[in-house]
Amino acid sequence: MIIIASTNGAIGIPQAWEILEQGGTALDAVEAATRIVEDNPDDHTVGYGGYPNLVGDVELDASIMDGTTLQAGAVGALRGYRYAITVARRVMEELPHVMLAGEGAARFAAEMGMQSEHLLTEQAAQVWRAGIDGQQPTISASQTALLDELRRHTANLTSDPERVSGTVNFIAQDRTGHIASAVSTSGWAWKYPGRVGDSPVIGAGNYADDRYGAAACTGWGELAIRAGTTRCVVLYLKLGYTLEEACHAAFADLIAPHEDPGTAIMSMVALDRHGNHCAVSTSSGRTYVYQAAGMTNLEELPRLVITPGQK
Ligand code: GLY
Repeated sequence: MIIIASTNGAIGIPQAWEILEQGGTALDAVEAATRIVEDNPDDHTVGYGGYPNLVGDVELDASIMDGTTLQAGAVGALRGYRYAITVARRVMEELPHVMLAGEGAARFAAEMGMQSEHLLTEQAAQVWRAGIDGQQPTISASQTALLDELRRHTANLTSDPERVSGTVNFIAQDRTGHIASAVSTSGWAWKYPGRVGDSPVIGAGNYADDRYGAAACTGWGELAIRAGTTRCVVLYLKLGYTLEEACHAAFADLIAPHEDPGTAIMSMVALDRHGNHCAVSTSSGRTYVYQAAGMTNLEELPRLVITPGQK
């Protein structure tokens, strides 16, 4: 029995641990833990209080995967519902689909009886209004102005890990050995409206399979989408790699040979079916948290630093 998470998930671990200790499922544990982070207005990268997109709307991405059935549910660019992870789980359980996006996702959340609300807190709105590096956003309705604004901010965003590497990851293995994984995010601060990152893309930002293990990403989602990063980790486990080798191999594919590894920001937590855990990052000084059988509290550990693109 074990749960691992990105460090901002620490606040969700006590409740998830209680669920696991009482014989609950890994799926219930990761959903409950994620909802606690989605509730936290001080985490500006997930759920309520998340930083908005370029035009000031909070758009959430989330996914959940059941490693036993390989069923998954996801939402992209969801507006107005803080518990994106629960909407994702309902997609998995109620629909013959894996992902809903935008208006369809919000419509489905309403049909499931969830309450819509305004997700942009005054604190997050103030930061958005102030812009990045003190540059005041000059958003207008014109397409050209939006694109110019996005280009102006992109260089700052990609060099600022805090703005690009939020998101919360949880992976749990319950008493019966079943594995589930959950990812939730408000995505890149000041992203283009409608942008969907890796978090709801199964195989990119989230993947779980009881037979091998699971992985979940935070960071520059476009890279994980291109490379299918979490599916790679699980495939490498299937091929007999150790967990650490699997993470290294997946990060080797994050960028093309001509790309500068210094611009790639990516972090990942991973678990194999034996309960071994590992977390990696392209940035130094980053940590993750875990709690396993026999521990009364979670522990915070450093992540291995990997230069992307290196074998
Ligand atoms: N990894 C989160 C995102 O790119 O939206």
